[in-house]
Amino acid sequence: MKTLITGGTVVNATGTAQADVLIDGDTIAAVLAPGSTLLGFDLAGNVDEVVDASGKYVIPGGIDAHTHMQMPFGGTEASDTFETGTRAAAHGGTTSIIDFVVQYAGENILDQYKLWHEKAAGNCAIDYGFHQILSDVQDSSLTAMDELINEGVTSFKLFMAYKGVFLSDDGQIVKAMQRASDNGSLIMMHAENGSVIDLLVKQHLERGETTPYYHGVSRPWQAEEEATHRAIMLANLTGAPLYIVHVSAKQAVEQIAAARDNGQNVFAETCPQYLYLSLEDQLGASSPEWGDFEGAKWVCSTPLRSKHEGHQNHMWRGLRTNDLQVISTDHCPFCMKGQKDMGLGDFSKIPNGIGSVEHRMDLIYQGVVMGEISLPRWVELTSTTPARMFGVYGKKGVIQPGADGDVVIYDPNGHTSIGLEKTHHMNMDYSAWEGFEIDGHVDTVFSRGRKIVDENQYLGRKGDGAYFKRGLSQYLI
Ligand code: URP
Ligand code: ZN
Ligand code: ZN
Ligand code: ZN
Repeated sequence: MKTLITGGTVVNATGTAQADVLIDGDTIAAVLAPGSTLLGFDLAGNVDEVVDASGKYVIPGGIDAHTHMQMPFGGTEASDTFETGTRAAAHGGTTSIIDFVVQYAGENILDQYKLWHEKAAGNCAIDYGFHQILSDVQDSSLTAMDELINEGVTSFKLFMAYKGVFLSDDGQIVKAMQRASDNGSLIMMHAENGSVIDLLVKQHLERGETTPYYHGVSRPWQAEEEATHRAIMLANLTGAPLYIVHVSAKQAVEQIAAARDNGQNVFAETCPQYLYLSLEDQLGASSPEWGDFEGAKWVCSTPLRSKHEGHQNHMWRGLRTNDLQVISTDHCPFCMKGQKDMGLGDFSKIPNGIGSVEHRMDLIYQGVVMGEISLPRWVELTSTTPARMFGVYGKKGVIQPGADGDVVIYDPNGHTSIGLEKTHHMNMDYSAWEGFEIDGHVDTVFSRGRKIVDENQYLGRKGDGAYFKRGLSQYLI
């Protein structure tokens, strides 16, 4: 199958150009001056399909480097399967995800890794890779890290929160970091001070403060700043590269910026929820259906922050200054009925997570519309840097000859109304983004040369997506 995309504006992280894009099989074969022939050879007459992208952007498919499909967590399991979650991602212009293999204390890491392959294989709409979560760091975990690198799993997430579930103590963290420093892999960190949070949660519940609002209050920015600083110092001690996940506090960005100014290999992502949603408007919301439990829809960790403390502006600023390099979703959806409602009367029992994998490209494009970021920066944050950070750049994250034919045609004059009854393809009974109006529209999505979405129609098949092995990070200083 040969496809020629004509008349569009190709947007890469490096800039924009008017160009036609030829996809041959599953690969981009050429990026050409508009209307050009190849040595007198009429291209348009010799391809299977010509797609007119006049007035539209032609961008590399989005890469969501932080998802949790069907993750067992909080006494239940994230409601999107690899099938439903990757199909929703495709609808939103995301053509790759990197999901987390989970290891709870005592579980065998390599068995878990095999299990995640079994969950994903034959089910995905788009390509996928894996990170590995480490909880108790045993000697066997260190050898597993080396083995997983050969499998294309080159990043390892540790947790400074969730005691008894995921939390690694500082000694365990240092052990994993020492190994990462030796084998070249990347340590990803959930940076919140878990002991402080556990104490505050207990105190709020004892005072009868049980609503979702107190989920946010019990995880203050100081707990994020402190853990971020500690993670940076432990990485400094060991020489390991460090990537802080789901950053929401302004003060955490300041810690990351200071470390980067120091020349340390410290990187970070934020997520759409920390750019648009707040403690007051979402966690503190009430509705006729759920009363003041409405806020459970947005319970995630790190939590949504107060709109009065300047966090959101600071996130946009960090995205401009490159103190934040990546935008992922931390997609971890749970339904209100039967899942989030386990926390009625006790916010600590609400499963943590928000579903956004379908809307990341649209939501971050609004940053371009609002003048917060440039058009190439949109592509850089959502596709190119995730590809470089996690070792797949060249195949993914760029429109260039030899890259996979993961291409999205995005219409800046289109419109997208987000909501359960409108755009929603995620397996959830609500949308965390209900009512958001988007300037822009994902028109057509190609995954390795196959047209899988066209004008809101899903044309792909379950199992189209393939596992990609990742190399070491291509982003280190
Ligand atoms: O609330 C969240 N973030 N749920 C997913 C697990 C994690 O910590 O990333
Ligand atoms: Zn986390
Ligand atoms: Zn996560
Ligand atoms: Zn359209």
